[in-house]
Amino acid sequence: MKIRCIESRDADQILQVQDRCPEIAPWTLQDYQRAADGEMAGWVADEGGIVVGFLVARRVAHDFEILNFAVRPDVRQKGIGSLLLQQSFAWGTSLQAENAFLEVRASNLAAQRFYERRGFRITGRRPRYYSSPEEDALLLTATISPQRQGQSGSL
Ligand SMILES: CC(C)(COP(=O)(O)OP(=O)(O)OC[C@H]1O[C@@H](n2cnc3c(N)ncnc32)[C@H](O)[C@@H]1OP(=O)(O)O)[C@@H](O)C(=O)NCCC(=O)NCCS
Repeated sequence: MKIRCIESRDADQILQVQDRCPEIAPWTLQDYQRAADGEMAGWVADEGGIVVGFLVARRVAHDFEILNFAVRPDVRQKGIGSLLLQQSFAWGTSLQAENAFLEVRASNLAAQRFYERRGFRITGRRPRYYSSPEEDALLLTATISPQRQGQSGSL
């Protein structure tokens, strides 16, 4: 299994992962192609040519935002999500980003636990941010620091 940058050819397979992950924002093929074209940063977890997970992020001033992130349900809890997150932190460090942030559905407790154990804290709440179903978003933020990169166990 390797973590590599998103390429255009991955868009179809990323959609297949997305189709199995109702927790995340339903992006289009074009959205992922824009990530592959460099409008956003993105990585995939590639298992022998099969995309089993992905993470897309963008720089926002002195921070970076995780925009969409999922691992195929049948290969979760094996460290793949941590590797993708670690890759995004390495990228953020190279940009000298100060914080990583993201929004998560208030009901998505598994993801909240994942982020909490990796240094994220709740820093805001956006009422009725999501639709279908309508739900609040929690804003989670983690501080990026060079020390964090050296502590691979912390991600
Ligand atoms: C969040 C996600 C990407 C993590 O991917 P992963 O490959 O399972 O991640 P890892 O194997 O590296 O880590 C698993 C961690 O998730 C947490 N977790 C996963 N499922 C859980 C569950 N059902 N209940 C509680 N915690 C859970 C655990 O804290 C675990 O961490 P630990 O090893 O420290 O105990 C994955 O669960 C996923 O795709 N979820 C659906 C999409 C989503 O919610 N994306 C984020 C939207 S903001």
